[in-house]
Amino acid sequence: MKASAIANANIALVKYWGKRNKELILPNNTSISMTADGLYAHTTVEFDKKYKEDIFVLNGRELREGSREYDEYIGLFLKVVREKTKEEDRVKIVSNNNFPTAAGLASSAAGFAALATAFNKALNLDLDKKDLSILARRGSGSATRSIFGGFVEWKKGEKKDGSDSYAEQIASLTYWPDFRMIACITSKKQKKISSRAGMARTVATSPMYKSWLLGIEQDIEKVKKGILKRDFTLVGRTSEENCLKMHATMITTQPAIIYWNKSTIETIQSVIDWRNKGLECYFTIDAGPQVKIMCLEKNVDSIIKRCKKLEGVKDVIVIKPGEGAKITNEHLF
Ligand code: DP6
Repeated sequence: MKASAIANANIALVKYWGKRNKELILPNNTSISMTADGLYAHTTVEFDKKYKEDIFVLNGRELREGSREYDEYIGLFLKVVREKTKEEDRVKIVSNNNFPTAAGLASSAAGFAALATAFNKALNLDLDKKDLSILARRGSGSATRSIFGGFVEWKKGEKKDGSDSYAEQIASLTYWPDFRMIACITSKKQKKISSRAGMARTVATSPMYKSWLLGIEQDIEKVKKGILKRDFTLVGRTSEENCLKMHATMITTQPAIIYWNKSTIETIQSVIDWRNKGLECYFTIDAGPQVKIMCLEKNVDSIIKRCKKLEGVKDVIVIKPGEGAKITNEHLF
């Protein structure tokens, strides 16, 4: 009844922003991401009669039932798993991220993809990758995509029960090995508004939300085609535009949601400037202040050098296309 798994985070090229069903975590739009090598969650789970209550330890800190962090995420997910499996034993979960949690580097994606994968083994659920992505989705939408490696599409689906809202691989990590994202960490603080709360507020109040949805299918087609043709300009340009459209819906939410800080903006402007001078790169930003710069491997050194000179960039992480979630024999307890 003990199992461990490792799952990488992912960075969206076409973003998921807004749900049509909050309980089932069904999105309003299809999204595409790259699974991020080296930004991972490592999770061990054990169901056993010896536990009198569920225990959840995240990055060395125990989160308890009754706290917002516990009830809104892991508590809901455990309910889903128990309903599905009828498992009655309590569970101990220990999970570590090797990158800052909740600062816009998709920690919930890595976390729930690892957790779903570990549960699949510990409870002998025997789910294939498609069904595993559906289970991970119930923890956090973006986790749906982290089940697969390389470049991944999460189809929004049409059905009410969510059975057609799952992830599929577009291309494996070896298909486009010189695609890179350089994450510029501009703040290590936990963000004030979670993606979950932020997107709900955007759907309810942003006058731009309708136009966001109208442009999505075109962006999906362009990015998919770009990945399959390894057309860096098409993928980079479309992803950057898509990110700005999402942030336009955030900024026009009431009250406004602005995830950027001073150095986020300085980094954006630098990317545009470098590009205008012939160094091809594009940016993307999620629900946080970090800027992820898309480029090809041949330009990584030059871009890192420039990023390190930017005031306010605290850390720079180079990310390659990574593997999907997998079981490991290394247990954390
Ligand atoms: C901006 O997956 O964190 O990173 O489904 O409520 O858990 P929940 O939201 P979450 O949202 C991610 C939003 C995003 C874009 C993306 O990853 O596609």
